[in-house]
Amino acid sequence: MNLTILKTLTDLEDWRNQIQPDHMNFVPTMGCLHQGHEALIKEAKAFSKPKYSNILVSIFVNPLQFGENEDFKQYPRDLENDCEKASKAGATVIWAPSFEDIFPNGKDSYFTINVPKNLNNKLCGALRNQHFDGVATIVIRMLSILRPTHLFLGEKDWQQLVILKQLINELNIQTKVHSIPTIRDTDGLAYSSRNIYLSKEDRKKALMLPNILKKAAQDYQENNSINLQEVKNSLEKNNLNVEYIETVNPKTLTSIDSQKSQICLLAAAVKCGKTRLIDHTFLLKQHPIVAIDGPAGAGKSTVTKKFAEKLGLIYLDTGAMYRAVTWMIQEKKINHNNKNEIELALNDFNLDLQLSDSGKQTVILNDQDITNEIRSPQVTSEVSNIAAKTLVREKLTLQQKEIGKRGGLVAEGRDIGTAVFPNAQLKVFLTATPRERARRRAIDMKEKGFSVSNISKLETEIKERDLKDSTREIAPLCKAKDSKLLITDGMTIEEVVDSLIDMFREEIPQEVWPIKFH
Ligand code: PAF
Repeated sequence: MNLTILKTLTDLEDWRNQIQPDHMNFVPTMGCLHQGHEALIKEAKAFSKPKYSNILVSIFVNPLQFGENEDFKQYPRDLENDCEKASKAGATVIWAPSFEDIFPNGKDSYFTINVPKNLNNKLCGALRNQHFDGVATIVIRMLSILRPTHLFLGEKDWQQLVILKQLINELNIQTKVHSIPTIRDTDGLAYSSRNIYLSKEDRKKALMLPNILKKAAQDYQENNSINLQEVKNSLEKNNLNVEYIETVNPKTLTSIDSQKSQICLLAAAVKCGKTRLIDHTFLLKQHPIVAIDGPAGAGKSTVTKKFAEKLGLIYLDTGAMYRAVTWMIQEKKINHNNKNEIELALNDFNLDLQLSDSGKQTVILNDQDITNEIRSPQVTSEVSNIAAKTLVREKLTLQQKEIGKRGGLVAEGRDIGTAVFPNAQLKVFLTATPRERARRRAIDMKEKGFSVSNISKLETEIKERDLKDSTREIAPLCKAKDSKLLITDGMTIEEVVDSLIDMFREEIPQEVWPIKFH
């Protein structure tokens, strides 16, 4: 086992001086490691570059997060076993400090964190008074000692995750937080160190918690509503003593009406015998939709394509749709000015965008694969004229909305967040200053063998085009009120895609739409 085990702060400092780690992935735990922790460690390992192989797992049963009558004393401790499991999962360093190692000056000597009421007085925090203050105090202390690059937390403890993310953000701590989905045993019970308290009988009962939540989420998908009282009754009928069952906004944790929101968290805590269990599921109306709008030349289509690929989202290539109409009009030899014939043809225009197994997008029109045909020079030369027709735009907006019903897509354009998908879970207005867009355009032109005389002239042209695009009658360019602004000056394509992924992750949990970087 090639594992460094550190205990005291001096051990830690010595190790740090010796190794000089410039990159550390940190997984905090209270020990008694199970598959959930192992998944966190594996993720931390997968996320590290070969050169940076410091995967540090802390094992510390934090007294500050236990209430007076809680199980601090009997909480399972088995360092040897934990070290073995952590090492197998990819940990390189274990830090197992005592309370005095973390707070050398004793009980009354350290700053504590008070989690704000709006996050604390909900769900678990409402019943476990000091719990999140204790978690936050210890995690922030550990972060200040370790200064890790990445921190890995489980979505199983959703409220903890929300609180820590917000705190790290507010304190401007330069550690990036990653979350992993709840890991479940084959029977569906979420892994938790406390599961070892369950007797055989209790474990059977405990299974009803995930089962009932899962069923509620399925019913919600069908009926778009949930009856919390019924869910509660059904838990209690199965001898689970309900502490709370609530639907809340996953970001703010405030109670919400599930019918009115795109995504909400259905969370519960129950007592099964003497063991307290928590679990949750997300209620979703549809798979996530991302709307990316912005001016011409901001690099939208390049980054949107890459973003879609990384996330396994359909790239609703609105450009491809206009190309498909153009192709159809050409195939049917329809005169561009013949409104009636175009209208007739559009009635028979059923387009589908599908992801092939290899991840390549295919364009299917009335069951025919026209992916390659729509890229022909004939189509390219006419597509902008066709796309300017109100008739065509109206029809395609309707179809885009129709395709959007199943969700799981990203679309890019000028009015996606305002006209096509006003309910998108994430809206981004992607732009760059006219100067930067002029610079990029000049590089592009040079690469294509054209001479570029004057960047300022290009800049003026770009400003004029922006004005035209934002004041035109059909589909004007416009930033939705609730969209996030991303100015890409000085960023590489990869950096823009990563920022989009971070924005997506702020809205959509891994559990709902996982991203694998490896
Ligand atoms: O989730 C846990 O195990 C603990 O709350 C944590 C984050 C290790 C802090 O003690």
